[in-house]
Amino acid sequence: MKKTKWGILGAAKIAREKVIPAMQGSNMHEITGIASRNAEKAAETAKSLQIPKHYGSYEALIEDPEIEVIYNPLPNDLHVSYTRKCIAAGKHVLCEKPLALRSEEILDLIKLRDQHKVKVGEAFMVASNPQWIKAKEIVNSGELGTLRCIHGFFSYHNVKPDNIRNIAENGGGGVWDIGCYPVFTSRFVLGKEPLRLSSLLDFDPNFGTDRLGSVLMEFPEKVQMTFSVSTQLMPYQRMIFYGDKKALEVRIPFNAPSDEHNELHLHHGDFLHHNVEIIRMPISNQYTQQGEDFSLAIREHKEVPVSLENAYHNTKVLEAIFQSDKEKRWVNLD
Ligand SMILES: NC(=O)c1ccc[n+]([C@@H]2O[C@H](COP(=O)([O-])OP(=O)(O)OC[C@H]3O[C@@H](n4cnc5c(N)ncnc54)[C@H](OP(=O)(O)O)[C@@H]3O)[C@@H](O)[C@H]2O)c1
Repeated sequence: MKKTKWGILGAAKIAREKVIPAMQGSNMHEITGIASRNAEKAAETAKSLQIPKHYGSYEALIEDPEIEVIYNPLPNDLHVSYTRKCIAAGKHVLCEKPLALRSEEILDLIKLRDQHKVKVGEAFMVASNPQWIKAKEIVNSGELGTLRCIHGFFSYHNVKPDNIRNIAENGGGGVWDIGCYPVFTSRFVLGKEPLRLSSLLDFDPNFGTDRLGSVLMEFPEKVQMTFSVSTQLMPYQRMIFYGDKKALEVRIPFNAPSDEHNELHLHHGDFLHHNVEIIRMPISNQYTQQGEDFSLAIREHKEVPVSLENAYHNTKVLEAIFQSDKEKRWVNLD
């Protein structure tokens, strides 16, 4: 396969520390260039990561004919506008989650994508992670019996005022940053959209961003899903799928390590948790896998792992979480 040539918008932490090194470990693509608002920062980052080209503006990278695909890890409020510019320049785009802060904007991107005949996807690396592909397979095989309940939790502690997660104008807050994951993985495993939800959010009085949130959702076939997310608790994460026979626990569901085995725990059902089958996944890097799936979609004209249509439905759920808390009522999703 001819390597795809990627450009990176901004020297974001996630790009520098995770996505670029992981993608450089694959022979399916090359990281050809990186742009920063600051030319010096672009040059330094390119040098430290051995990236051949650097640009002092995002526009210069977008206009470079050598770049085929753009990874957009800008702050959340810039995802749609820059993805739009990239598509208009004829580039494929892998945009970080949450792809948009308003679902209607994704409908415009869909039109533009179809007009320019490019691939555009949301960077939910979990969709390419073998542990989630296995979890989906187990739940859908009926091994748990009838699935009736899902629990999720995701938290970290970050009170830095200059971090984009604590800046409301950048689309900060726990729901946009990490609430998107329990929503996405539940929809991914079930292959269905939730019917309605109710939520309770607590906002930081200084930042104005949500720092703790809990959500109750109903999926078809009376499956109940609850999750909590927080930006100001001890770091923890877990997803559990409960059937009437067994339960499946995804131990490190989101920040899955790339240097040790990820484990799924299949609980056969006893109160003392003695009867647990441990499924050890082969060591893999979810960011490498995500990049390879995206490059394959381009070269082999396949669907990207997380399409704009999928991103639209996820965003509708996240919007409903804010609406439910604000209006103190259940919100239907149809
Ligand atoms: N998939 C995952 O596992 C994962 C993990 C973490 C984060 N993310 C997502 O990745 C994105 C970036 O997160 P991050 O933690 O890496 O952020 P970050 O380190 O703050 O990087 C954001 C970058 O955006 C650029 N930028 C442009 N305008 C900016 C502005 N007004 N304020 C701040 N930065 C601006 C900056 O690059 P220059 O200064 O170089 O132009 C900055 O380095 C977010 O959308 C987040 O949700 C995904």
